[in-house]
Amino acid sequence: MRLTVCSANSNSSHVAFWLIYFINRDAQVLAKTREALHEACSAANAPGEISIDELCASPYLSALYAETLRLRSASIVMRKPERRNLRIGRWLIPKGDVVGFSGWTTHFDETLWNTGTPSEPHGLHDFWPERFLVSTHARYHGPTKPGHTKPSSQEPLISNCRMHASHSEQEAISSGITAGAVGAEKATDLSCEPGFPIPNEPQDSSVSEQVSFSTEGLQGIFVPYGGGQNICPGRYYAKQEIWLTVAILMLKFDVELHGPETTESYKFFATGVLSPQGPTPFKLRRRSLV
Ligand code: HEM
Repeated sequence: MRLTVCSANSNSSHVAFWLIYFINRDAQVLAKTREALHEACSAANAPGEISIDELCASPYLSALYAETLRLRSASIVMRKPERRNLRIGRWLIPKGDVVGFSGWTTHFDETLWNTGTPSEPHGLHDFWPERFLVSTHARYHGPTKPGHTKPSSQEPLISNCRMHASHSEQEAISSGITAGAVGAEKATDLSCEPGFPIPNEPQDSSVSEQVSFSTEGLQGIFVPYGGGQNICPGRYYAKQEIWLTVAILMLKFDVELHGPETTESYKFFATGVLSPQGPTPFKLRRRSLV
């Protein structure tokens, strides 16, 4: 239990660190973040109040959060077929054997994700929060690659087996892993439609653009919180505590990063969100306007 609580907290603090780092490293991301934070705060009940609900519902803040988890979560989710042999695609896992699923592989799979356009590429090692946005005016196209289709229902990822604690395989791989996993209460349709939500028709430019956060098409691909019955129960709380921390810091202080780029450490790979490699020097300056 102590170990779980420690690792839960270190996951959250690592995500908060990377968010602050990614936001402050890029002037454009910083400007958009401040705008989204002010929007979320102005929707709060009283002036000066910070509403956790508004922070967590903001499409841009959710996109920042999801992109940070995509780049830095390196958990390996363990499962054991307890009742019978387990078939996953062309693999057969004997009953009692332990299987490890690493989102690290799928989080960087170029064949699955939206990587921008030839004129504006956004590789999977780049921090590009817009990957997780969809817009009515076709500015943002959502997280999956155009034309990417998920395995059909005739060809499930795992078939005919009960996992670990008696839940079906589809649940283990799909349910709640994507939108549920990032606490994206307002995410778009999570059904198994092969999907890439580009609007078919150009939208009427006189109608204002609607931008929303999307994890459509990412079941079994984006798994920072694991999935199925054992999916991280702290995921909603984690998103709340992380955004509250980051929002207070960002609203009250300017963060000036110094020194060379901070890279991730692989020392505790597979145990959760990667920590920074070495120190990251910075200056904090109190902001006059909040
Ligand atoms: C960004 C922060 C976090 C990340 C990335 C994260 C990730 C994960 C992952 C990958 C699992 C394994 C899920 C599976 O086997 O399918 C897990 C399990 C768990 N997490 Fe988190 N977690 C985070 C924060 C938290 C927080 C804040 C709490 C508690 C307040 C928490 C409590 C737990 C517990 C109790 C389990 C075990 C669930 C079970 O085995 O049934 N986590 N977490």
